[in-house]
Amino acid sequence: MRLLVCGGAGFIGSTFARQRVVEYGDEVTVLDKLTYAGREENFQDIRDDAGFRFIRGAIEDAEAVPAAIRASQPEAIVNFAAETHVDRSIAEPDAFVRTHALGTYVLLEAAREHGMRYVQVSTDEVYGSIEEGTFTEESPLRPSSPYSATKTGADLLVQSYFHTYGMPALICRGSNNYGPYQYPEKLIPLMILNALHGDPLPVYGDGMQVRNWIHATDFARAIGHVLEHGEEGEVYNAGGPDECPNIDVVNRIVELTGASADQIEYVTDRPGHDRRYSLSSEKVRALGWSAQVRFEEGLAETVSWYRENEWWWEPIRSGDYRAYYERQYGRALG
Ligand code: NAD
Ligand code: DAU
Repeated sequence: MRLLVCGGAGFIGSTFARQRVVEYGDEVTVLDKLTYAGREENFQDIRDDAGFRFIRGAIEDAEAVPAAIRASQPEAIVNFAAETHVDRSIAEPDAFVRTHALGTYVLLEAAREHGMRYVQVSTDEVYGSIEEGTFTEESPLRPSSPYSATKTGADLLVQSYFHTYGMPALICRGSNNYGPYQYPEKLIPLMILNALHGDPLPVYGDGMQVRNWIHATDFARAIGHVLEHGEEGEVYNAGGPDECPNIDVVNRIVELTGASADQIEYVTDRPGHDRRYSLSSEKVRALGWSAQVRFEEGLAETVSWYRENEWWWEPIRSGDYRAYYERQYGRALG
């Protein structure tokens, strides 16, 4: 297939782009604004592949998007482009509104003009928090942060383009992703790098919040299944095979890195913190998908990847990320 992958310089988008070029022989054009989270290093191993091309541009730019479509002549658009960190959405929501509302609208208009298949990459956070049981695609939408509320708005807009214009649009909602190339503001890479550097490991609240972990290669493959086999207008959840309380994740990282448990520090909780996420994936399983990576094995491999790829994270950890960390955690990185 010829694909336009928006947000393909980020963590999951670059994993998807790599998978489609290397494993499926697709022609992939990445359109990405290169925010702090978007990095050309994320796709440097496929950069020279004949099936890969990169265009820098924002999805809310009503000139850049049609130009990227003219240049790449895609059969489908897959939209990963987003602001993705809940803590940043609490501190500064404006970019979340712009990218998720305006950006999704501009992409949808361009896709509609060409009658193109469109997959919106979304999140379990649109359902809010669940104490027991698991969310299905029929669960009510109850987002709780500016991040999840604006992602929900984008999903509703996508669905309206199917209902109103008959646009062949689909949505794939994932649970918490982890794996190589994840920006170190997120729990797992933050804890791995802090552990390796002897920095404190800041656990929010009581650390008993539960997340449903999925390896990014598994989520990327689920999105590919939805793109190829999903029914137009439908939503598909893709949850990971394992759930784990945050404190257990952090303790396991302490073991895997050889850090000290004394580095763990309980800090002020995130405002409006969702207690638990859990996704049922029956519908996407019926399309032939299943998760391949269990959390225990995937976490160990992820720790090894961060250990071995200092070239990737060192420029982040010595750059603007330091200032972000100080603002967010009220202390400097060591
Ligand atoms: P990320 O923060 O690593 O990457 C986001 C990418 O989008 C970056 O390359 C950034 O430059 C780009 N981008 C941001 N705003 C843009 C704009 N206006 N125009 C063009 N490009 C823009 O994010 P990620 O973790 O890879 O998440 C990708 C998608 O998957 C997001 O839509 C997110 O909501 C969804 N998702 C993420 C997770 C997770 O655990 N990380 C789970 C479920 C769903
Ligand atoms: O569920 C899918 C979502 O997962 C995605 O849609 C989001 O883009 C992604 O960022 C992620 O959201 P979370 O808020 O769950 O991820 P985060 O890595 O920020 O936090 C995971 C858990 O760890 C959460 O309960 C908060 C906690 N945490 C996080 C950080 C950064 C800490 O205890 N300490 C920390 O320093």
